Amino acid sequence: MFKDGLLRGKNILITGGGTGLGKEIAAKYLELGAELWICGRRGPVLDAAAKELTTRQGGRVRTHAVDIRDAQAVDAMVQRIWDESGPLTGLVNNAAGNFISPTKDLSPNGFNAVANIVFHGTFYVTHAVGRRWIAGSHKGSVISILVTWVWTGSPYVVPSAMSKAGLHIMTKSLAVEWGKYGIRLNAIAPGPFPTEGASKRLRPGGDYEDSIHLNPMRRIGQMPELQNLAAFLMADGCEWLTGETIAVDGAGSLATGAYFTELDKLTDADWQRMRALIKAQNDKDRAGRTA
Ligand code: HXC
Repeated sequence: MFKDGLLRGKNILITGGGTGLGKEIAAKYLELGAELWICGRRGPVLDAAAKELTTRQGGRVRTHAVDIRDAQAVDAMVQRIWDESGPLTGLVNNAAGNFISPTKDLSPNGFNAVANIVFHGTFYVTHAVGRRWIAGSHKGSVISILVTWVWTGSPYVVPSAMSKAGLHIMTKSLAVEWGKYGIRLNAIAPGPFPTEGASKRLRPGGDYEDSIHLNPMRRIGQMPELQNLAAFLMADGCEWLTGETIAVDGAGSLATGAYFTELDKLTDADWQRMRALIKAQNDKDRAGRTA
């Protein structure tokens, strides 16, 4: 779809780039010639991903273990990037946290666990990068990975829906405020593109049959469809495209609106089982954290 070397000369940070959608976007950017930084909470997972990606396609991927909920640690990471590789040219806000739960059962901590990663953490990274771009008179491009819930809302994932809706508005607001500096911000709202992190917390023990059946195209997303949009938005040649959130979901959200309405039929016992499955995944991930 793209010419070789489309992203040559680009230096891009992908948050949460060691797993899931972030790693898939990293693979595409690397294939197109970009140099990358990936960050996340699990250093060994990042290092393994960097090794796998560069072994497969060459290029350079540097890693930094960080919890984006910590604004000071985020600023230190971005300073390290500037010191070691010069200014970034692009940022992909991909890191996220989420789980399904009846909102009545959320504790303040449960709300904060998601909102502090998605809403606050994404702002910290965007701010740390953006203010350096402005201070150094560098252009830059930000892509945030959102979800179609920014338009529809979504039951049972309210902290995520609220936080991602905030980032949708950040995208629009900063596109205007930072346009004069040559900084553009866009967002991608993917439909279901199965990854381990999302599947284990949003469909524990389940599958994607409902999504396939309800989608106008009768299928879920294919990873190259997301990768290609992320590459297009990061490439030179569409600089006037800014402030947009683009859905890539086979018109699923237009057809059916919010996700997870089918969870209305779950019983308390079902929810207890879901919570245990989600907890097992959270415990597994936490065991690997180094930041
Ligand atoms: C209710 C829950 C819960 C659950 C956790 N909590 N799981 N509450 N139901 N199933 C509560 C805990 O009880 C605790 O509150 C609080 O949340 C913090 O829990 P921890 O496990 O200590 O949090 P932490 O280790 O910081 O983990 C953060 C996380 C976790 C967000 C909970 O899921 C995570 O790290 N996720 C990262 C990966 C991820 O989620 N990927 C999917 C992204 S999908 P108390 O009060 O007990 O202390 C996405 C959108 C996809 O973003 C869209 C697809 C279409």
